[in-house]
Amino acid sequence: MSIEPDVPTLQWLLQTGLGSDGTVTAGFPLVLKVAPESFVFGADGILSAPLTDKQRRDHAAVRLAAALVTQTAHPVAFPTETVYGLGANATSSESVARVFAAKGRPSDNPLIVHVSTVQMALDHLLPPETPIPPQYLPVISQHWPGPLSILLPKGPKVPHVVTAGHDSVAVRMPSHPVARALISLSNCPIAAPSANTSTRPSPTLASHVQDDLKQRILLILDGGPCEGGLESTVLDALRSPPCVLRPGGVTVEMIQTIPGFENTAVFKKGSAVVSEKELIAPVTPGMKYKHYAPRIPVILFEPAASNTSKSSSRLKDLEAAVRNRVIQLYNDTVKQQTIQTQEVLVVGILRTQSDTDIDLSGLREQLLVLESKSSVPLRIQFVQQRLGSTSAEIGTNLFRALRELEAMEGCCMVFIEGVEEVDEGLAVMNRVRKAAVETIHF
Ligand code: TXA
Ligand code: MG
Repeated sequence: MSIEPDVPTLQWLLQTGLGSDGTVTAGFPLVLKVAPESFVFGADGILSAPLTDKQRRDHAAVRLAAALVTQTAHPVAFPTETVYGLGANATSSESVARVFAAKGRPSDNPLIVHVSTVQMALDHLLPPETPIPPQYLPVISQHWPGPLSILLPKGPKVPHVVTAGHDSVAVRMPSHPVARALISLSNCPIAAPSANTSTRPSPTLASHVQDDLKQRILLILDGGPCEGGLESTVLDALRSPPCVLRPGGVTVEMIQTIPGFENTAVFKKGSAVVSEKELIAPVTPGMKYKHYAPRIPVILFEPAASNTSKSSSRLKDLEAAVRNRVIQLYNDTVKQQTIQTQEVLVVGILRTQSDTDIDLSGLREQLLVLESKSSVPLRIQFVQQRLGSTSAEIGTNLFRALRELEAMEGCCMVFIEGVEEVDEGLAVMNRVRKAAVETIHF
């Protein structure tokens, strides 16, 4: 039987986790495992009292996180159904400023605010006496709690630092039990960007948060892997027609089935929904930043529009494109002549389209010939991995696979096969395009 360690007090966390200069001590963040099943909500959305020892211990862990958020300005990392978030009391500009600082996030990129009830949004986020704009009601009833953020008019209790000066605030009600419990035990809305350092792939495991935010935060609630894997959809229905500013788990196709949302557009640079002014001051500042980039270059392979081959010959076309790019990598590396002793480079190949592996035997032979002729001792190896059989599954695994490959010794490049931009595939390709430094059409 595994025994969960006791949950420390807030006083212990602050005394041990902070040095005399106020910076976070080596060995922190503290990671507390919490089981999502320990949190049960009634039909009214109220968190039920814990009944078992395990539940009591897990509730105590979330209460510690809530105390950190409400009694200090230190942020806490917590799981949501999309990715891990780094949360702070959304009504405190000091707390929110620390989130920006911990992530190294540019101050003009606004945060999403998380609520556990609609009433919480009415009480804290909207202007006084202002209802939820009626067009959102069917969206909320279908997709909250869930991976959908909506833009609402910003009230005076929301500090400017949260919205980066915008007059709207992005709000979402997460469905993950640990996230809901944290918000309801904090009894305040929680501003939370993804818990990665700025520009890195979003974290889908507590260990990803630890890798990025070591000695930058005090506490991580580890609720296991995030099911969604990609960040929430951001929907702006304050404009007409409504517009998806960032595609996510609630797909554009799902939104378009809702009455009044049939003409929902997708925000894209160069598309008709984007005015000249908005291109200068982007409506969703996240779009202008480098994003989702692991430390090694990602190269996207997608069929050219002119390639109408059937899947079997497409695989051959992909094989040829991969072969050419690897030979180029080999020649470029040899030319740099920095390699003294035998070096093994690894190329990760993330597959999305078929069960059949790319046949690398011809390429391996070609490399052997090059190696035998070269004075530079260089070898290239491959790790081929399938991300999933549906776009949703590919989305769940994408960021984790990128982080795993970059952590692999010798891995110098990741190839990724594109997916069709429909349903969850739109969100997948949105992230892949931002991560990629090069696109090869085959
Ligand atoms: O799934 C998610 O949304 C995760 C989890 C933690 O909830 N959060 C997340 O937050 O991905 P972040 O900060 O990494 O991304 C927020 C996105 C950015 O692209 C930002 O520009 C956009 O939402 N955004 C936030 N507030 C906005 C606003 N008022 N107007 C336009 N875009 C906004
Ligand atoms: Mg983010």
